Amino acid sequence: TATSRLTGLRFTITAGPTREALDPVRYLSNHSSGKMGFALAAAAAAMGADVTLISGPVQLATPAGVKRTDVISAQQMHEAALKAAVNSDIFIGCAAVADYRAAEVATSKLKKGSSEQLQLNLIKNPDIIAAVAGLTKQRPFTVGFAAETNDVLSYARKKLTSKKLDMICANDVSQPDAGFNSDQNAVTLLWQGGEQTLALQSKAALAESLITLISKQFSNKSTT
Ligand code: C5P
Repeated sequence: TATSRLTGLRFTITAGPTREALDPVRYLSNHSSGKMGFALAAAAAAMGADVTLISGPVQLATPAGVKRTDVISAQQMHEAALKAAVNSDIFIGCAAVADYRAAEVATSKLKKGSSEQLQLNLIKNPDIIAAVAGLTKQRPFTVGFAAETNDVLSYARKKLTSKKLDMICANDVSQPDAGFNSDQNAVTLLWQGGEQTLALQSKAALAESLITLISKQFSNKSTT
């Protein structure tokens, strides 16, 4: 076939936002649509890979042939991702995980007070991809995303090293026609000793190129 076949290769991909409850009716979240992660899952499955997609709350249909696990919070995504990661060859962290969650989730609806100000006490969520990349046993080849508005490549290179990733996909989200919620995207894929820029195109086309490049780098690493 025209596209490379990835039969037998096991992917775990995270996608979408996470939602961090404040009380029974409110939450903190972000504008991630999940489109890029779902496109990656669809592309890998279309190439014959075995794909587990761990998704935060999104409005997207499950791509053909993909096993999907839905989660809400970062802590739930952390648990599901680590469970799946240890049985994977390649882990791609495409989710926009909330960095913080409420230190305490109120059990009943927070009431509007008389004060003009309200302080929220937040605590840091686990860094899911750093936990996966830090596995000492059954560690998958680990690929992250870096959504940045400035100094995109240098921040991405720093994250590649600090999170101990094998590759990172740098995404300039300051461009209105790319990134969050858009159907198109442009990225630069970086690894130790190399990089490749993929020009603005549909997320479906981009996903196919990314899965091919990632799989190539994975087999290079596995055979050296
Ligand atoms: O540090 P930053 O959030 O910019 O890093 C982005 C990368 O880290 C993405 O691959 C994202 O999925 C992952 N991440 C994660 N867990 C977090 C925060 C980010 O897996 N708590």
